[in-house]
Amino acid sequence: MKGKILVTGGTGYIGSHTVVELQNAGYTVVVIDNLSNSTTDSIDGIERITGIRPEFIELDCNDLEGLRKLFQKHSDIKGIIHFAASKAVGESVQKPLLYYRNNLNSLINLLDLMPEFGTENIVFSSSCTVYGEPDQNPIDETAPIKPAESPYGNTKQINEEIIRDTVRSGSPIKSIILRYFNPVGAHPTAEIGELPNGVPQNLVPFITQTAIGIREQLSVFGNDYDTPDGSCIRDFINVVDLAKAHVIAIDRMLGNKSEDKVEIFNLGTGKGVSVLELINVFEKVSGTKLNYKIVGRREGDIEKIWADPKHANTVLGWTAKENIEDTMASAWKWQLRLREKGIM
Ligand code: UD1
Repeated sequence: MKGKILVTGGTGYIGSHTVVELQNAGYTVVVIDNLSNSTTDSIDGIERITGIRPEFIELDCNDLEGLRKLFQKHSDIKGIIHFAASKAVGESVQKPLLYYRNNLNSLINLLDLMPEFGTENIVFSSSCTVYGEPDQNPIDETAPIKPAESPYGNTKQINEEIIRDTVRSGSPIKSIILRYFNPVGAHPTAEIGELPNGVPQNLVPFITQTAIGIREQLSVFGNDYDTPDGSCIRDFINVVDLAKAHVIAIDRMLGNKSEDKVEIFNLGTGKGVSVLELINVFEKVSGTKLNYKIVGRREGDIEKIWADPKHANTVLGWTAKENIEDTMASAWKWQLRLREKGIM
């Protein structure tokens, strides 16, 4: 066994895939989640995939005393991967205080308690949203941070600054900040995957739910962008590839290999795929015809963004391996499994 890792938000989409990879790599995992946007079904799925049931504690990271008790019980936590956050861009515009409270307090509580309990290492889930609309693509980590388009995006920027300032103040903390592009797909076993509450805001769950008949039609937000087919371009990164990068980040910090106390990496494929291209791939691999229509642009959308992942490729030795066809097929398999189980 390689040591104990605390995963906050570990029953959620990216969190659950990361728990699988951590356990496969020999780590002992403690999962906390407030279950506001997930259920413990993912713990069952993790157990079916890995044969190991991670310890799960229902806990909100905003609950400082609850967190303190957790650290007292698990005084041997070697590292934290902090996923727990609210992440709906539109909702954040409607309820900014909820987003600032949830997403900022949770990190502050963790950073506050870590030195007290001798935990030095934290991996933070950030987003390419911190770049805003890039001046050029692909975009690397040295690109300027642009003013955030939403309170959600702002919480990611502020969280990055909170980490930097805390380290600068002399706190014995090291961090790896991972900026995700667009995580999609599901575990190849279809035991875990993305399961948004209510109407999906993100593209891929909306596609698969439309194909299976839960949603009547997908709206494609805009075909008049300055891109080859007029639809927006994103860097869709397979969620298992993404999860594996977290294990490498933890290995790196626990092995004292970090070159700086705060390191930042883009996690993407390096390839831009348009919304219409993605729909095409989906139709091909699922053998279904998707009912979609082009509508107006969605407010706050970025026109095109894809990663320059060279820094992660060379320094972490991590590269996205899965192709977009297999990734979309995994998302479809997951949607079919949800129906089989009567969940959706
Ligand atoms: C957004 C956020 C990102 C956040 C992520 C997680 C922005 C600019 N980015 O990513 O920071 O981490 O959500 O929730 O807000 N689309 C459609 N129809 C749909 C849904 C989406 O055409 O029904 C299009 C969008 O216009 C966009 C693309 O699909 O061009 C991807 O959208 P989405 O999956 O929501 O992700 P982002 O907006 O890239």
